Order: sequence, then C-alpha cells, then structure tokens
Amino acid sequence: MAYKSIGIVGGGVIGQALFDYVSKHDSLSVEYVLVSDVRRSTRQGAITRILTDDVDAALSQKVDLVLEAANPDFLHAHASRILESSSLCGFSCSALATEATEDAILASAGRSGRRFYLPHGGIFGLDGLIDGRPVLNSVTITTTKSGPSLGGAADLHGVVFDGSTRDACIQFPRNVNVHAAIAWAGLGFDRTRSIIVAEPNATVMTHQIRIIGDNLEWNITAQSRSLGGVTGSYTPKSAVGSVARILNSGIIANV
Ligand SMILES: NC(=O)c1ccc[n+]([C@@H]2O[C@H](COP(=O)([O-])OP(=O)(O)OC[C@H]3O[C@@H](n4cnc5c(N)ncnc54)[C@H](O)[C@@H]3O)[C@@H](O)[C@H]2O)c1
Repeated sequence: MAYKSIGIVGGGVIGQALFDYVSKHDSLSVEYVLVSDVRRSTRQGAITRILTDDVDAALSQKVDLVLEAANPDFLHAHASRILESSSLCGFSCSALATEATEDAILASAGRSGRRFYLPHGGIFGLDGLIDGRPVLNSVTITTTKSGPSLGGAADLHGVVFDGSTRDACIQFPRNVNVHAAIAWAGLGFDRTRSIIVAEPNATVMTHQIRIIGDNLEWNITAQSRSLGGVTGSYTPKSAVGSVARILNSGIIANV
C-alpha cells in the first residue's frame, strides 16, 4: 500500500527526526504531531501548526500510517484503535511484552488488514535472528547504562535486573526497547534473558548480545552515546531509515 498521510506521535528526539524526514517529501503530508504537552514542545521550537495534545482529535484523523515515538503506555492505550484504520510503526516496542497489548495489536491488524511495523531501533541484525530462529538455543542481552539513564541514582552500580525479557520490559519499559526487538525477532519474551547493569559515570550505553545455536555462536556489541534521555545517538538515524523502508514498501519486520 502507498502511504501518503502520516500521523506522528511524539515530538522528542525520535519524533522530531521523523517529522524532519517525512515533511521533506512533497508526496507525503503530516496531518498531526501528537505530544503530551504542547507548550513544552512549542518551546522546543518544533512543529507548530499541526502540533496537538488532543488525543481524540488527532486519532480521529484517519491517516494511512502512524509513527509512534512517545512511550509504551501510549501503545497499550491506543495501538489497537489506531490499527483499525491505519498502519502503525511502534518505536516503544517494549509494550509488546504485555500479552494483552500484543494480542490486541494482532487482533486489530488482523481485522483491518493494516500492518504493525516493529522497527529495529537502537540495534541491528534482526533479520539474521528471524532467519536463524529454528536453530537458536539461547539469546542473552546485557545492557550497561548509568544509574540516571535507568531512572536511578548516580551511584547505582552492578546488576539491577537479571531475568526474562518480558519482566525486563515491564520493570524498565523506557530502557529495554532493544531487548524487546531482539526477543520478538528471536526466541520470544519468555525465552530471552535480559541483564541490566548500572555503571556510575558511564558515558556510553552498551548492548552486548550473545546468541548460541546449533553449531553457531554470535556476539554483537553496540555502543552509543545518549542524546540526553533514553535514546542513543544511532536511533534517530535508524528510525528514519526504517520509515524510509516502510514508505518504499520494504518491510523490516512485521507482526
Ligand atoms: N526501539 C528502540 O530501540 C528505541 C530506542 C530509543 C527509544 N525508544 C523509545 O521511543 C520512544 C521515544 O523516544 P524519544 O527519545 O524520542 O523520547 P523523548 O522523551 O525525547 O520524547 C517523547 C515524546 O513523546 C511525547 N509523549 C509522551 N507521552 C505521550 C502521550 N501519552 N501521548 C502523546 N505524546 C506523548 C512527549 O510529549 C515527547 O514529545 C520512547 O518510548 C523510547 O523508550 C525506542
């Protein structure tokens, strides 16, 4: 399907990058940018004419494609409704660890024939995991960040979580979108192990992914600097690349 009308949810680091990219194309129209607080977003100098914090006014516009870059709670509350009439790309993909949300997304997309796109976000190699699924035995992701970027104190250190990716997504919904994407592509939320480590004064965030399968062993390390919040320096570029592929009808991953 050719996507022409676009709604963007979130006007922060990722949402702004998506707006800048989409609004450059004459064949596309951004109908709204939905944020939680218009006054704060206006002060950030973003997107004014189409900026709104009125959820119902925004979502009642039946756009072809909604790009969500807000938070997992937004997907819990609105993904199913959006998918009744629009395709949806969700960057806050830790929301999929909540079974009720994943089920609602699948059911709504199934009824309407719209698509839910799961972008690779801050990590890469999901295609390899999807292809290797039948021979994978274990997938472990270890993320190291500073305490404040995990929502904790500056002197927080050591392992703060070790368990299933499903539980990690529920306890650290803003920090483990990468874990969610890896789990979805590979062994699922219950069979993927998540470890979260706090390191005082860490200036980079590190994801180490160890994958063991039949006659294979992969180690992926990805490091990036935070752009001030939960998002690393690579993710806005990755987000724009994913949306470009969706608009060109190349699917990255789709549930
Ligand atoms: N998939 C990945 O690998 C990956 C990587 C980084 C960030 N993320 C996720 O992407 C999302 C956006 O990240 P960011 O760095 O751009 O965030 P940000 O904090 O810079 O911006 C968030 C934006 O969302 C808006 N918002 C928040 N709650 C909202 C709501 N209920 N309704 C409408 N708008 C709302 C805010 O007004 C703000 O404009 C976050 O959920 C983040 O965890 C995913």
